[in-house]
Formats: sequence, C-alpha cells, structure tokens
Amino acid sequence: MTEQMVTEYVRNAWYAAAWAEELTDQPLPRTLLGENVVLFRGASGVIGALEDICPHRMAPLSLGVVEGDNLRCGYHGLLFDCAGKCQEIPGQVNIPPKAHARHFPLVERWQLAWIWMGEPDRADPELIPNWFWLDHPDWDDSHGTIKYDCNYALIVDNLIDLSHTTFTHKGTIGTEDVAKTPILSERRNGAVYVERVMTQTEPSPFYKKAGGFTGKVDRWQKITYAPPGDMVIDAGAVPAGSNDPNQGIDTRIIGYLTPETDTTVFHFWAFARDFALGDDTVTSMIADQIEITFNEDKALLDGQQRNIDATPGRKLLDNNADAGVVLCRKLLDERLAADQADPA
Ligand code: FES
Ligand SMILES: [Fe+2]
Repeated sequence: MTEQMVTEYVRNAWYAAAWAEELTDQPLPRTLLGENVVLFRGASGVIGALEDICPHRMAPLSLGVVEGDNLRCGYHGLLFDCAGKCQEIPGQVNIPPKAHARHFPLVERWQLAWIWMGEPDRADPELIPNWFWLDHPDWDDSHGTIKYDCNYALIVDNLIDLSHTTFTHKGTIGTEDVAKTPILSERRNGAVYVERVMTQTEPSPFYKKAGGFTGKVDRWQKITYAPPGDMVIDAGAVPAGSNDPNQGIDTRIIGYLTPETDTTVFHFWAFARDFALGDDTVTSMIADQIEITFNEDKALLDGQQRNIDATPGRKLLDNNADAGVVLCRKLLDERLAADQADPA
C-alpha cells in the first residue's frame, strides 16, 4: 500500500529552479527543497544561486541589489559573486575566507535554470534532463509554472496515472475511454514507463481544437518518470486507422516537479508541439487550456493534502490503474536510499 507522502529529498540531482526568463537583475527569493535560495542574473548574463542568508549578520541576500555580475547585501553592503565569493567588504581591505556565501551550482539549459542542491563536486551538467524539444526548431512550446499545496509525490502520482483525466478533465483532455483502457507499466532505463494506446476513440475537446479532428482517432499516452522530478508525457493522435503521423498531432507535456517544502511543490511545465510552429495564437490557446487543466488538478491535489494533514498515517488504496504509481514510488524510494547511502 502506498504511503501518503514522501518527506525526504534526493539532494544529488538537478532540479528546475526557475524559468530562465525569471532571472533578472532583481534578486529572486525562492524556497527549494526546504532551503531559502536567492537567484539572480548578472550584467554579463551569468546566473547565480546563493543561500538567501548573508554570512555577515544573516540578512536575506534577496533584499540586496545586483551590481555587475555580483550581488550586494542590502544591510552592510558585502558584495558576493555568483560562486558566493566575497569580493568586497566596505571599509575593510582584508576579506576573510569565512566571508563566503553558500552557493549552489546553477546551469541555464532548455529555457530553464537548473539547480544542484547536493554535493557541488558531483554537479555534472550532463545529468540535466534532456528536454531538447524546448530548443529544437521542429518544435514550439507554451510553458509556465503552477504551484500546488501538496506533497511532491502526489503530483508524481497524478501525472503518471492519466486515468484521472476521464473524470477531472472532462472539458479539456479527458474522454471516457482513457480510464477504461488498460495500461502497460514497466521499468525502463532507470525510469518508469507507462503506456496507454486507444484506437477508434473519440478525440477529447482539446484534441478536436488543436488537431482539427472531425472523426474518431487513434490516440496514445506514453509517460516516462525519472526520479526525482522529471516527467515527460508523449501524447498524440492520428485519424483512426491512418497510421500516418503527418496527419495527426504529436505533443510532449513535460514537467519538472521541484519540492518547495514537504507540502508545496513547483510544477515547471512545458507543452511542446510539432504543429502550428510560430503561431502565437496556438501558443496562448494551449497555455490557457493547460492552465485550466492543471487548476482542475490543483483543486484535487490541494484537497488531498488537507485530508492527509487531518488524517496522518492512513495508507492509500492501490487499484489496477495505480501500477505505474506504485512503480514510481518504489523507484523514488530506491533513489532516495542510494542518495542517502552515498551523499558525498
Ligand atoms: S548582513 Fe549582509 S552585509 Fe551585514
Ligand atoms: Fe490532471
């Protein structure tokens, strides 16, 4: 039986911290994995992530100002670079080594800033999830962030088990056949893979709008979850029986789930498509539909968390459609155990 919440974090992993466009010369305070961080962009374009605590008197560095490529504390003016090294102490020539702000490796890739909150020496950028769709000329995307007031495992459960779309998202992506169609779920290359294929099925309201389908379709959902927070859904449809990808639509609903606290989580989402490239009307139509859809989830997820808070310790019931959920929780547990066994 599945536990209600997962209250530990894999530290040695890249997490999406912000959209790159959010990083400016205005320091951005953000709580990630329970720690207060300040994110900023210097004048040359470099980005930095420091603990939001000045080593001098513990003022929040996010109340400071960006100067050039550095961040100056708003209290007594110590100046730190992106690596947390103190560059200046007003009125003092010597800079003691202790005048160092804790820093986190931060890399800009796929339109996002990725943070590493574990052992800095292990922060290999090659380990950043491959979200190439966001930079590829054959794909266009809508993207955004939604915050849920729930434990991060609940949104993993939500995205891996799309049977809920039949009931939660009737007006957008859900159709009756989704919950009725059995799934394949298995471990694949260090991830959990769940597949659902529906043939001769009604297109959802969203698919009718986006793909212009008038008749029945063959439709698929292929979901890959790589712990701790990388979730990619390959979803698309073609006219029923056509087997021709050029006649249909192919999309990726990509998400990174970054815990803020035990009971709040950021969902950095992107919806990449291989049709209507460069069409801003389609980009914003999709963003609107996604926002409606994810807010439908939010109502349920936030409500689940309120019930969990009121009823701690109760175990959850697992059904057939939860096969993928159970595999994900198991894989996440294993990843947590490995991270804790070898933290350095
Ligand atoms: S608290 Fe930051 S400079 Fe004093
Ligand atoms: Fe949903």
